Amino acid sequence: MASSPLNVGLIGLGTVGTQVAERMLTWQSQLARRAGMELCLRRVLVRDLAKRRAVEVDKELLTTNPADLLDDPEINVIVEVAGGEEPMRGYLERAIGAGKHVVTANKVVMAKHGPDLLDLAAEKNVDLYFEAAVGGGIPLISTFRTDLQANRIERLSAVINGTTNYVLGRMAAANLTLDEAVREAQAAGFAEADPTDDVGGFDATYKLAILGSIAYEIKVRPEDIFREGIEGIEPVDFRYARELGYAIKLIAHTQRHPGRIEARVHPAMIPLEHPLAQVEGATNAVFVEGDLVGQVLLVGQGAGGRPTASAVVGDLIDLARSIRRGVQSRPSFTFDDRVAVIPMGEVMTRAYYRIRVDDRAGVLAAIGQVYAEEGVSISSFIQKGAWVEERTAEIVVTTHPSSDASLQKARTAIAKLEPVHAVSSFLRVF
Ligand SMILES: NC(=O)c1ccc[n+]([C@@H]2O[C@H](COP(=O)([O-])OP(=O)(O)OC[C@H]3O[C@@H](n4cnc5c(N)ncnc54)[C@H](OP(=O)(O)O)[C@@H]3O)[C@@H](O)[C@H]2O)c1
Repeated sequence: MASSPLNVGLIGLGTVGTQVAERMLTWQSQLARRAGMELCLRRVLVRDLAKRRAVEVDKELLTTNPADLLDDPEINVIVEVAGGEEPMRGYLERAIGAGKHVVTANKVVMAKHGPDLLDLAAEKNVDLYFEAAVGGGIPLISTFRTDLQANRIERLSAVINGTTNYVLGRMAAANLTLDEAVREAQAAGFAEADPTDDVGGFDATYKLAILGSIAYEIKVRPEDIFREGIEGIEPVDFRYARELGYAIKLIAHTQRHPGRIEARVHPAMIPLEHPLAQVEGATNAVFVEGDLVGQVLLVGQGAGGRPTASAVVGDLIDLARSIRRGVQSRPSFTFDDRVAVIPMGEVMTRAYYRIRVDDRAGVLAAIGQVYAEEGVSISSFIQKGAWVEERTAEIVVTTHPSSDASLQKARTAIAKLEPVHAVSSFLRVF
């Protein structure tokens, strides 16, 4: 056991911070045995000193002054579980600059500034851990960092946003609209008061930026990733999807191509037998394919105070162990800037269209003609509902793989056809 403790400055005492503090304060001897040194909670930065806390922390430890942590030479490591881009990015940069190690759960900072902060950490010979920033309690970063190191990662597909997975699951099971399912998720504590980050696919994009960067050792920035949220999906799409043998999920996907990668987040139809189709509720799952290992599925609780604290405190223990072993023994990340992300228009994918049309002769031929002109090959063409009084019908088309640009051109051209009322839904098919 090392004679001096690892002194921790904790930023944030909310959902995650409470659980981190709780484990550090109530499990001291077990953590010390595993870490090989005592983990000592030295200071806690919050916004509001008067707020009631769900964990008993000595009032003396609380502060609202970041300098009490960042400028205290006795503090060896900053654990940031507060969230948001600024001021947290600045705090982490300052901590690393001062030679402190960092453990963070902040996906926004890691997605936008992770490679730069990791470079700075390498320069300062300190560590930056961020297991909790992606997939809550699921060991993802450490898996890439150690166990999958011998592989060239070929592709990675993930259900990585618990809120949208819960919402889509409820739409499918109870025939709810998106708004109804979001309200239910909010009541159940699975969605924020403002669900835009989740529903719009932003949260999944941040996580994919982090995972893609780690998997391919290139700087994948959130703005490089094609993003589409789940706003356009209607309950009837789940029924048609099931009839066709698919589930609908918000999928984060990246794939290696010669000299480039594909990176996209959007709702997609995936075959019911695919492991990701079975991921229900707020659970997250990441399906990885490496050239040596083959396929690996990592599943677990992607959010929540306790699972996320499991990742944060796990990082702290690993950090303590590596400090004992000596700084130079730690594996680090290197990022290549040269690999480009393929523009979405060039990505090859299959698609599903739900089209509301006049129920009369010649409509199918007109739609088929558009697909032919765009070079899109049709896989199935089925007339679904018919509304006799309105003399309208719904047609569902699925295609063979085509460039996304051709699929979009066909979508626009079909919507302009005289007997077409609307292309009510467009989904990519895995
Ligand atoms: N919750 C999850 O399930 C989960 C899962 C994975 C990752 N994460 C990540 O973990 C981080 C924390 O999430 P959370 O759910 O625990 O958030 P939270 O419940 O909102 O707690 C945030 C904490 O940070 C403090 N804080 C915020 N801004 C601050 C500032 N400028 N200066 C000082 N303190 C500040 C708050 O202080 P006051 O209490 O005084 O207001 C609060 O204690 C985020 O990056 C989030 O993305 C969360």
